[in-house]
Amino acid sequence: MDKFVISGGQKLFGEAKICCAKNSILPIMAASILCDQTIVLNEIPNFVDIKNMENILKCLGADTTFCDNRLEISTKNINSFFVPKSLTEKLRSSIFVLGPMLAKHKKAKIAYPGGCKIGLRPIDIHLSGLKQLGAEICEQDGLIVCDGSHMKSSKIKLRYPSVGATENLMMASVFLEGTTVILNPAKEPEIVDLQNFLNQMGANVCGAGTEEIVILGVKNLGGGEFKPIADRIVCGTLLIACSMCGGKISVIGCREKEMASLLNELRKSGCKIDVKNDRITIESTGSLKAVSFVETLPYPGFPTDLQAQFVAMMSISSGCSKIVENLFETRFGFTGQLQKMGANICVNGKECCVCGVENLVGTKVFAGDLRGGAALVLAGLRAKGETTVCNVFHIDRGYDAFEKTLSSLGAKIIRKRDEK
Ligand code: UD1
Repeated sequence: MDKFVISGGQKLFGEAKICCAKNSILPIMAASILCDQTIVLNEIPNFVDIKNMENILKCLGADTTFCDNRLEISTKNINSFFVPKSLTEKLRSSIFVLGPMLAKHKKAKIAYPGGCKIGLRPIDIHLSGLKQLGAEICEQDGLIVCDGSHMKSSKIKLRYPSVGATENLMMASVFLEGTTVILNPAKEPEIVDLQNFLNQMGANVCGAGTEEIVILGVKNLGGGEFKPIADRIVCGTLLIACSMCGGKISVIGCREKEMASLLNELRKSGCKIDVKNDRITIESTGSLKAVSFVETLPYPGFPTDLQAQFVAMMSISSGCSKIVENLFETRFGFTGQLQKMGANICVNGKECCVCGVENLVGTKVFAGDLRGGAALVLAGLRAKGETTVCNVFHIDRGYDAFEKTLSSLGAKIIRKRDEK
């Protein structure tokens, strides 16, 4: 088990190129099941979740190679329809294989998905959408058993704009004769990216990013090369790191529109932001003003995946703020660790009140999930003295060598193997 040892108090300077988005890569990897020929994904980071998804595809019989940030997937030899719990419990996105498996092979049997423990995370929207497309689904011994032999195009209205369910249903309907319509879909940029990928491979999907996604069935998908969009959560994490530490950094790869909800809050807290094309520059003195109210919402609202990092930022901003988490029930778990560092935080259900303190104090803390873990790293970068963040495996699921990126910007952070 690795840990990060951080000597806080360094300002950050320099620039960082943002890698491709985990939340784009994972559904696209699952969509490779739909393709007749090899797909090549370029500039792919080394996230543990990507390895986990590769293992799921391999378990179904796909061939994958990952070398020099280039991921090749060929699914023509898929000969199994079963993904066991030992693989699905490692990541929530394992559920993504359901839609493509039903579309291409008409059957699938997978164990319930795992992933970050940040709330109940039901999959009812995925399953009810697939049922509305005619899939027969039942549960047997903790496994989801699906038969897609009678699937038909349809009009589906989601009760909530779930990102994963929208993606699963887009993939499930690619080959259905006629027109499938998804109403009240999620509008995240990663959904547009999935649409672009599917269309590049030969699908006919339009409307991603709007209130209605329309899929016209095609006979088959080919193969080819694709580069997923940049990771707006990694981008946002680095911007928040600089706001807290002070300094001036540029992050390259994300568009202003995708980052707007965070950039607004960073400006309100006193940071200078300058955007030129896909280069976002932030300048901060490290003395921040608290933003009175922020709530997480589906895109284009404030992303839940930046909530923890933002709470860390508010914990050293002058004044009090209220942060409301509307998506995941237990996503304030990390705040107990932040309190060990001196933060003044009070959590009540889905609300969290933070009153900024002058500074945090380094100590030993434990990451409990991916983004909460990243928030503890940011707190450590800002804190007085030495912070040790244990259970770094959570952070490795969504940040590629996070310590190297931060070191390149001037942070003092090293990775150590925990002896215990
Ligand atoms: C995706 C992201 C994740 C992000 C989340 C919200 C990926 C791989 N992961 O997760 O990083 O935090 O979007 O932006 O893209 N829900 C149900 N039933 C369902 C599905 C979801 O009730 O069948 C609820 C969830 O519990 C949650 C809300 O809907 O409260 C949003 O979840 P969803 O958009 O599905 O998130 P994910 O796709 O799991």
